[in-house]
Amino acid sequence: MCGIVAYIGKKDAYPIIIKGLKRLEYRGYDSAGVALFNGDLNVYKKKGKVNDLVSFVKGKNLSGNVGIGHTRWATHGEPNDINAHPHTSDDGRLTIIHNGIIENYATLKEALIKEGHTFTSDTDTEVLVHLIGALQDKDNLELEEAVRIALSQVVGAYAIVVLDRNDPTKLVAARKASPLVLGIGQDEFFLASDATPLVGYTSQVVYLNDEEIAVVSNDGTFEIKTIDNEIQTPFIQLLNMNIEKLEKGNYEHFMLKEIYEQPNTIADCMRGRVNAAAGWLKMGGIEEQEERIFNAKRFIMAACGTSWHAALIGEYLFEELARIPVEVEYASELRYRNPIINKDDVVIALSQSGETADTMAALELAKDKGALIYGIVNSVGSSISRITDSGSYIHAGPEIGVASTKAFTGQVTALTLMAIYMGYKRGTIPKSYYHQLLEGLEKIPAKVKEALECDKQVKELAKKFINTNHTLYLGRGYNFPIALEGALKLKEISYIHAEGYPAAEMKHGPIALIDENMPVVVIATNKSAYEKIVSNIQEVKARKGIVIAIVTKGDEEISKIADYTIEIPDTEEPFTPLLSVIPLQLLSYHIALARGCNVDQPRNLAKSVTVE
Ligand code: G6P
Repeated sequence: MCGIVAYIGKKDAYPIIIKGLKRLEYRGYDSAGVALFNGDLNVYKKKGKVNDLVSFVKGKNLSGNVGIGHTRWATHGEPNDINAHPHTSDDGRLTIIHNGIIENYATLKEALIKEGHTFTSDTDTEVLVHLIGALQDKDNLELEEAVRIALSQVVGAYAIVVLDRNDPTKLVAARKASPLVLGIGQDEFFLASDATPLVGYTSQVVYLNDEEIAVVSNDGTFEIKTIDNEIQTPFIQLLNMNIEKLEKGNYEHFMLKEIYEQPNTIADCMRGRVNAAAGWLKMGGIEEQEERIFNAKRFIMAACGTSWHAALIGEYLFEELARIPVEVEYASELRYRNPIINKDDVVIALSQSGETADTMAALELAKDKGALIYGIVNSVGSSISRITDSGSYIHAGPEIGVASTKAFTGQVTALTLMAIYMGYKRGTIPKSYYHQLLEGLEKIPAKVKEALECDKQVKELAKKFINTNHTLYLGRGYNFPIALEGALKLKEISYIHAEGYPAAEMKHGPIALIDENMPVVVIATNKSAYEKIVSNIQEVKARKGIVIAIVTKGDEEISKIADYTIEIPDTEEPFTPLLSVIPLQLLSYHIALARGCNVDQPRNLAKSVTVE
């Protein structure tokens, strides 16, 4: 969480930093701030979104060819102007932007107070800048040396950039467990939490590794060393991202754009991996580690949030199609419960951002225990994609709306391909079914497009549920994780309490909640357990609940008993989640919009959760 951007070069830093902060706003939007140097240091910060900062600085001195900026997701200290970054050292000489948490800040702060430092904010970050300043003053150290020593005393996670008023010809940056990308331009450098602020300026990037410190100068030189003072040879990569993908285009919100992108993003995920006519399906990530993957005794899938729901679908897919035992874990639980993980396990991490702190930590634990670690990741070059032994990118492109949509269907697509690939090779999928599945897969993008046609109907329906306080989502089999995901989407962006449940579990509790005011969304597509889900709908209706059913096109039985039905195209059962999630994404979008909520930036949330 928190987004950081910095620039040093010959251009005006302010517009570059503000544009970058807007692209990073998905990481947090509690406050924003910039520090710019032009003969003197000007620091501006404001509670609220980047646009609030922009209004606040109107008419102020925004000049300078070097600067740092921050958009915050509050951890230590409430969101207000004072706790906003950048933070400064006692004498105002140093300014810092920080993403992460300094866990031992309280001890460090106490020692610094004893030495006479005074603090103005409640943040952990301010402690770090005071510490660097104190070290610099004590032994008259170069900034990079003071940063290096300070970081060796710090416990926690950080991506930082420090600007020294006494030497504004350089910036010093460092990272540990929070992402940081260095962009290399013509006699100019960019530093950012991800590569999006660099797009349009440079395509040469270096993803800094943990415990690396970069010093970038306005004469076009830079150096990377480790916290142990060892000089590193930078690995410069080419960035492959275009501006259209970072903008809303003709859509009102990123979330809607991303929902509508799904026919293409799912096709992109399958591109080069499936060819039904030629009868093949390839997964490079599995081929790279074929022996260990095929000899694995068990798969463990670890993830958070929406990615965890995708993992649950993975469990159904892997067990049904490839007959491999799968356990699905919340990464935050797995990492702290001393789990049994063996050398012959494969641990799959699912993550859109590739930066989620808990998922990262769970993977590190699995790696230490000798398991093969595999990533299903969207963000190219992210931390998770770099520590895994192998993996599959989902190729969904940048996802900016905080509520995940296209990354979810990308993850499910990747898992589906993996399950079919392994199932066929292991002989658990007969040849004829294999070919049927490949043909079915290729039709999915067109069917997703067809499923999106319910948009108008869903928009009308949404109006009826604007004032609802609670909603229940029910599903069975592959549609159970979709019930969880539908409920999460509604909670996240409309702030309506919603619960997802396995349909049959309803009678063990949630049924007590049902009355004539309770909307119940039932994902009731026409495959196995169809009769059972029809009975569940009857049970809801018997208690006067309002049933919104997601059904397979042409279904006549459910439309007779449900209050509202939304149709999706028919498909092979394992592909159902890719279609049944579409109306639920649209439903939450339209309800949130009708309630006047900020759909792309829901309160209290951030897209990339780099703290525990
Ligand atoms: C946050 C986001 C969710 C996301 C989850 C996991 O909570 O708001 O949309 O599903 O983090 O993120 P990841 O990047 O690991 O998929």
